Amino acid sequence: MGSKEYQARQFNLSNLKGISDETLEMHFKLYEGYVKETNKLNEKIAEFIKDAKVDQDEFAEYSELSRRLGFEYNGMVLHEYYFDNLKTGGGTGDPTTSSTFRKAAEQSFNSYEIWKADFVGIGKMRGVGWAICYENPSNGALSNHWISLHETGNVAGFNPVLVMDVWEHAYILDYKPADRPKYIEAFFSNIDWAEVERRLQKQKAQPKAA
Ligand SMILES: [Fe+2]
Repeated sequence: MGSKEYQARQFNLSNLKGISDETLEMHFKLYEGYVKETNKLNEKIAEFIKDAKVDQDEFAEYSELSRRLGFEYNGMVLHEYYFDNLKTGGGTGDPTTSSTFRKAAEQSFNSYEIWKADFVGIGKMRGVGWAICYENPSNGALSNHWISLHETGNVAGFNPVLVMDVWEHAYILDYKPADRPKYIEAFFSNIDWAEVERRLQKQKAQPKAA
C-alpha cells in the first residue's frame, strides 16, 4: 500500500577495461541492497502514517527512518545512473570533437580538458562519495559536484549527466585504495558517451522558457 515498490534493474554490463566482472557482480548486489532498503523504509514509514497522523511516541523512530530515505534513495538512483553510463565491452575514451557533450563542456569550462581536470579532481577527493557532472536545465550549463555518501551535495532539479562512483567498493577488488586515480582512468575508458548525450538531449527536448 502507499508508496511505490521499486524493482532492482538488471544491467547488461561486463568486460569493462580495468574494472573486473567480479567488481561489477559485487556492485550489482550492493545496488540491489539499496533498492531493498528503499522499499523497506517506504513500507515502514507508510505504517507510521496510515492513520494520517504521527504520534508523539512514534516520532523518534519515524524521524530516523525519514532521515535515511535520502541515503537509500540516492544510493539506488545514483547506481542506476552509474551503471547506465558505462559501456559493456569498454568505451572509446574521450568524446569526439563534434559531440554535444564536448560542446556543452566547452561552453561551461572553456575547454573539455578543463572540464575533465575538474571532474577527475573531484573524483580524487578524500572520502567516500560520487563525482557528478550536472546540467542546469534552465540554461544548459554543466557543473561538477562532489557528493558525500549518496545524498549530500546533490543539486535539486539539476540533471545528472555523468555519474562516477568513488566509494572504495567501486574499485577495491581491482586497485589499492591509494590507486583511485587508476580506477578513474579506467572509468573514463568505459564511458558510454551515447548515454551521456541522451541525457543532455532529453533536457533539450523539453526546453524551459528563458
Ligand atoms: Fe557503489
